[in-house]
Amino acid sequence: MNWYPGHMAKALREIKETMNKVDIIYLLLDARAPKSSLNPVILEVLSHKPILYIYNKSSLADLEALNNLIETKDYVIIDALHRKNIRQIPIKTNVMLSDLIHKKQQHGYLNYPIKAMIVGIPNVGKSTLANALSKRKSASTDAKPGHTRQLQWIKIDKNIQLLDTPGLLWPKFDDPNVMHHLSLAGSIKEEIIQKAPLFDYAYHYLMKYYPNSLAYYDVPFDTKETFQSALMAKRNLSDNEFYTVVLNDIKNGLLGGFCFDL
Ligand code: G4P
Repeated sequence: MNWYPGHMAKALREIKETMNKVDIIYLLLDARAPKSSLNPVILEVLSHKPILYIYNKSSLADLEALNNLIETKDYVIIDALHRKNIRQIPIKTNVMLSDLIHKKQQHGYLNYPIKAMIVGIPNVGKSTLANALSKRKSASTDAKPGHTRQLQWIKIDKNIQLLDTPGLLWPKFDDPNVMHHLSLAGSIKEEIIQKAPLFDYAYHYLMKYYPNSLAYYDVPFDTKETFQSALMAKRNLSDNEFYTVVLNDIKNGLLGGFCFDL
């Protein structure tokens, strides 16, 4: 996805407008890239709303590293696809908004419906989470910027409603490594990724932080060149097929759970 300043300004405006209708933001982040999947600009926009930080795709992540990087107390670590820890979201929501709920009750509002909205960068799992929370099997939660439609609310708990169209954020690209981290996590469209330099980055990253992970392939991997030629020979792969296989295996967690923001 290409984000030009115009797109960003428009998405920001849409999120600001919608945000006024909700009580809490579910900020969905990738558990493998807790920093890279968070655009600091958005925090300025969201700052006056309670934010529950939700780290998704935990089954693919290095949980120890993730826990060391989390700086807030308002968070949950989930796996939306495998529906792990999903119930923690309404529980945390009720705790975070207990003052608001109490105030509403004092004004005679016994069952004040809390309104929540999921926001996050592409592919972080917004639709999967919306489906998991609403216990739907599948549903389209198309949220392209500029796509206007009536707001619809899905009941996800006895007093919590979720906006069915999530807010789409853009990644921050001011640090060149962010692009790499998000590509490795699968948040950047494959068509715009240059695979050879990304593999180069991944090889050095894994050798630095997860030196045993490449043992998965059962070929020598002490240098990038040795690894590449050995795996290409073993599996009869072209250069391009080699990059695709390794990058997909990393993204899909076959080499282990990673954190790309170390
Ligand atoms: P989005 O709405 O934020 O754009 O994300 P979406 O829910 O469409 O999820 C993007 C991809 O991530 C999907 O894979 C989905 O299955 C996967 N995914 C979402 N949550 C989790 C999770 O908690 N754990 C794991 N392991 N995967 C998750 P996909 O359809 O195969 O797309 P792609 O990976 O081929 O792009």
